[in-house]
Amino acid sequence: MISQDYLSDLFSLDGRVAVVTGGSSGIGRAIAGALARAGASVVAVARGKEQLEATVGELTAEGGRAGWVAADLGSREGVRAAAEEAAGVFGEPDILVNSAGINLRPPMSELGEDVWDTTMAVNLRAPFLLGQRFGPGMAERGFGRIIHITSQQAHRAFVQSGAYGVSKGALESLARSQAEAWSPYGVTVNTLVPGFVMTPLNRRLSSDPDKVAALAARTMTGRNGLAEDFEGAAVFLASRASAYVTGQSLFVDGGLSVH
Ligand SMILES: NC(=O)c1ccc[n+]([C@@H]2O[C@H](COP(=O)([O-])OP(=O)(O)OC[C@H]3O[C@@H](n4cnc5c(N)ncnc54)[C@H](OP(=O)(O)O)[C@@H]3O)[C@@H](O)[C@H]2O)c1
Repeated sequence: MISQDYLSDLFSLDGRVAVVTGGSSGIGRAIAGALARAGASVVAVARGKEQLEATVGELTAEGGRAGWVAADLGSREGVRAAAEEAAGVFGEPDILVNSAGINLRPPMSELGEDVWDTTMAVNLRAPFLLGQRFGPGMAERGFGRIIHITSQQAHRAFVQSGAYGVSKGALESLARSQAEAWSPYGVTVNTLVPGFVMTPLNRRLSSDPDKVAALAARTMTGRNGLAEDFEGAAVFLASRASAYVTGQSLFVDGGLSVH
C-alpha cells in the first residue's frame, strides 16, 4: 500500500488535462493511452476522424477519460481552431504533447519550397503556436508540462533528413526557449527523441526486412523501437516527478544515438 501511495504521489496524473497532437497513431497514440491510464483526461488531435474515434473508443472502454478534435495542424487557422476546441473538451490543458509530425523525404537537390513549408508548418509552427496558446496559462496556474517529440535527426543527418531534420532541430531549440521562459513558473518543457520506431510514419522503411534488421543492429538493445516504449518516459515527463527536469532531450532509442 505504501508503495502504491508513493508511486501515485510521484506519477499520478489524476485531475490533469492533456492535449496530445498526433494522438491517433503511433507514438502519440501510445502516449495518449499512457497519460489516460495514469489518470489524465486526454484530448487527441489529428486530421483523420476514424482513427481518432477508434483511439478514444479504446481509451474510454478501458475506463479512461478521453475526447478528440479533428483538425489540420498544417495551417495557422487549423491550429488555432484545434486549440480552442481542445480546451473546450475538458478545460485548459496542464500537459501538451506535440507528437503530430510528417516526414517527407525527397533528395536534398529535389527538395522544393512546398515540402519545406509543409514540414515546417506541421512539425515546428504548430508546436510553437500551441505553446503560445497554452504555455502562458500553464505558467499563470503554476503547473505545466510540454513534451515535444523530435528525432535523432535533430542531432545528426540520417536517411535524407532534408527539411525534416531541420524542423526537428528547431523543435529542440524551441523546447529550450520555452523552458527558459516558463520553467520559473512550474512549466517544464522537454523533448522525447525516438530512434527508429515501427509506426505508420515509417511504413515504407519498415516493410523492408533488410533495412529493419540493419537499423536494429545499430541499437544497443538489438531491436527497433515500438510506440509503447514511449509510455513510461511520457508519464514521467508529464508528472510531478519531473519537476526539476527541463530543457532536456531524452533519447528513447535503445542506445542507437550512442552506439
Ligand atoms: N516513427 C519513428 O521512427 C519516428 C522517429 C523519429 C521521430 N518520430 C516523430 O514522432 C512523432 C510521431 O510519429 P509516429 O511515428 O507516431 O507517426 P504516425 O504514426 O504517422 O502518427 C502521426 C500522427 O500525426 C498526425 N498528423 C500528421 N499530420 C497532421 C496534420 N497536418 N494535422 C494534424 N495531425 C497530423 C497523424 O494523424 P492524421 O494523419 O490523421 O492527421 C497521426 O496521428 C512525429 O513527430 C515523428 O516525426 C517518429
